[in-house]
Amino acid sequence: MKTFVRILAFALSVSLMPFSFAQDLPAGKGRETLKKVCTQCHDIEGVPQLRYSRADWASLVYSMKDMGADATKTELEEIIDYLAKNFGKDEAKK
Ligand code: HEC
Repeated sequence: MKTFVRILAFALSVSLMPFSFAQDLPAGKGRETLKKVCTQCHDIEGVPQLRYSRADWASLVYSMKDMGADATKTELEEIIDYLAKNFGKDEAKK
């Protein structure tokens, strides 16, 4: 009986595992740049929860640049594109 419970608990934890990775960064152009540039000062775990318009993402990214983010303009634009595309406010998807 004890073994059965242990197997059940294990199976449950495995089947629940994908949920802990549910809020992740979707693949796409700009993802690696975001990870490289935006983790210089803090983690970016909260970013996938945010929904901003493109203009808001742009001002946020440029304010990070002002604070000292080490990135070229091209990299910043790439990050803004990525954020606006995947975490945009105007998008109909949930
Ligand atoms: C030079 C260090 C630095 C880098 C690099 C950096 N940040 Fe930040 N970030 C901060 C600091 C400091 C704060 C907290 C101060 C604040 O909220 O104004 C912050 C706060 C934030 C917040 C919360 C802001 C809010 O209004 O709640 C978000 C979202 C964020 N950063 C996203 C990013 C993204 C996206 C990038 C990559 C473009 C980035 N950060 C790169 C320093 C940095």
